[in-house]
Amino acid sequence: MNRIIAAIVFSLVPLVTLGAGGVPPMSAKTDITNQKSLQSGARVFVNYCMGCHSMAFMRYSRLADDIGLEHDLVAEHLMFNTDTIGDTMTIAMRADDASGWFGVPPPDLSVIARARGTDWLYTYLTTFYADPNPARPFGVNNLMFPDVGMPHVLWPLQGVQSYIKAERPADVVSEHVAGIESDGKGLKLHTAVTTKDGKTSHVTDMLEVTIPGSMQPAEFRRAVRDLVNFLDYAGEPAKLARFQLGYWVIIFLGVFALVARALYKDYWRDVH
Ligand code: HEC
Repeated sequence: MNRIIAAIVFSLVPLVTLGAGGVPPMSAKTDITNQKSLQSGARVFVNYCMGCHSMAFMRYSRLADDIGLEHDLVAEHLMFNTDTIGDTMTIAMRADDASGWFGVPPPDLSVIARARGTDWLYTYLTTFYADPNPARPFGVNNLMFPDVGMPHVLWPLQGVQSYIKAERPADVVSEHVAGIESDGKGLKLHTAVTTKDGKTSHVTDMLEVTIPGSMQPAEFRRAVRDLVNFLDYAGEPAKLARFQLGYWVIIFLGVFALVARALYKDYWRDVH
């Protein structure tokens, strides 16, 4: 019995460590049935992510069909690495070169939404902030993935956020972000601080956009939502078909129930 309990506990460990570090994620509120959003997300992905990350399980042709774009439009606007629509979304960067540049090779993102979840991705991509620590190679850090090896590649859109700390008691011994809230200037960080005497209080820090990008904070968050929506779809393209099929199944069951009821009435009409 103890062994079974131990096995269950240890099987949960990887989940716990994956969630460890970082902050409570914001809700991504994505919707894979929204084709406009998927199209916008695909555009951001090929322009800002495919320099480093591949999506080796996805074919351009499948992508085009699923997100409702003509093949020649996709060839013109989304295919920079190949001219064959049937190709998968691979990149030219070599993993050992990338390891030299970033310390770790950028992983393939085909199933990242299944590994991390959409809320995690949304929070990760919105919480890069300037970190002057000389140990940080690209001058930025990330709330969700502390000391990440990836640069803040969406800065032309978002700009650069500064971590602005509110005044707190002098004798703080530990603190953690308890919740994140969208704000017109960036993100509000509700932070719990514990002082030496064991008391916990709350302060509100900010990730504030101090060097503006081409988008307003709310507009940027929408763009990231679309990108995460696209990553979610790419993790399981069949989900899209399943969702659409689901509506027809419900309609069929509804119609079938009416027919069955009429039959039932008919059969039992003469039985008393
Ligand atoms: C300049 C290269 C580069 C670009 C461009 C880039 N990344 Fe990354 N990315 C990296 C590297 C390197 C890592 C590995 C970081 C680490 O493990 O410390 C990474 C890690 C990640 C991770 C975390 C994977 C994990 O371990 O769970 C995600 C998610 C991610 N990138 C998404 C994106 C998205 C989305 C884009 C486009 C907006 C993007 N990246 C653009 C280099 C890049």
